[in-house]
Amino acid sequence: MLRRLAKDQPASFAFTPANLAWAKGQISKYPEGRQASAIIPLLWRAQEQEGWLSRPAIEHVSSMLGLAYIRGLEVATFYFMFQLQPVGSVAHIQICGTTSCMICGAEDLVAVAKELISPTPHALSADGKFSWEEVECMGACANAPMAQIGKDYYEDLTGDKLRELIGRFSNGEVPVPGSQIGRYAAEPAGGLTSLQDFAKGRKPHNASAQAAVDLGDTVKRIDGTEVALTTPWLGKTAKPAAKVAAKPAAAKPAAAASVAAPSVGGTKPKALKAARKGQADDLKLILGIGPKLEILCHSLGFFHFDQIAGWSADEIAWVDENLEGFKGRVTRDKWVVQAKILAEGGTVEAAERAAKD
Ligand code: FES
Repeated sequence: MLRRLAKDQPASFAFTPANLAWAKGQISKYPEGRQASAIIPLLWRAQEQEGWLSRPAIEHVSSMLGLAYIRGLEVATFYFMFQLQPVGSVAHIQICGTTSCMICGAEDLVAVAKELISPTPHALSADGKFSWEEVECMGACANAPMAQIGKDYYEDLTGDKLRELIGRFSNGEVPVPGSQIGRYAAEPAGGLTSLQDFAKGRKPHNASAQAAVDLGDTVKRIDGTEVALTTPWLGKTAKPAAKVAAKPAAAKPAAAASVAAPSVGGTKPKALKAARKGQADDLKLILGIGPKLEILCHSLGFFHFDQIAGWSADEIAWVDENLEGFKGRVTRDKWVVQAKILAEGGTVEAAERAAKD
């Protein structure tokens, strides 16, 4: 869209004393030599004061910031939020014409604006009180169609509703903004279909806040034990992952048949107080073990590949359960298989392949 300065311009522009003090305060936020960064707030304030941005206003702001006029003009003509021609003395109405609003009736709103204000956008109504334009999505799509009138959003509009609003503004009223069909926010127009516990007073908190309270610890690492909480649709049949991992191996495939079934909770493997000869193996060579997990292994007394390679199913269950923040990783990443290969002098690639098989 071509954006040009209005043909008729005022002779001059000056901030009111209060706005001038505010503008100086904005400029002072920026370090020496960077005052030009204040151009958007200053142009906006000039528009707030006059309703639109005249050429003298743009030049005045540019001068305050030590900018060539063309720099100020570039900014003012680039951003559509700056009105480059006079707007209605009561309100400038911005009607969203993007997809959601369009399919929900934006054309009816535009028709009312054309009828009551002006056949063309960016032109004043006969009494000078109103102007209008069509704009791109204003981010209130759930409550389409909508229009911004002055600083506020009026949502869930119809042609008749906009007609009524314009009449009330014209009479000096300021109708309550927001949804015009009584929605509190962007909930379904037919009423809540979810998050009803809080709204109906059944729970003291809403949605994620309630889930955090139910977990009992907002900084708890997710370890699979929350399955019933995080997948409520699975009902009581859902079992926490950690408990599943600790089940007897009898239910597992034949591969584990030669290994003794782990008892619930498992048995702690033999641990060392320190690495043998003060030299731990690089456990990070095991796919799935990073620096944090390696430190955790050391704190549990595991320093060497041959230690891990010798773990029984019972011991794996214990370690899986006690890797705080990393529960289940031994099984998931096949540490034992990898450790056996590395302990026997195999390559990291061979260990990784075995983990992925
Ligand atoms: S489409 Fe109109 S607000 Fe998004």
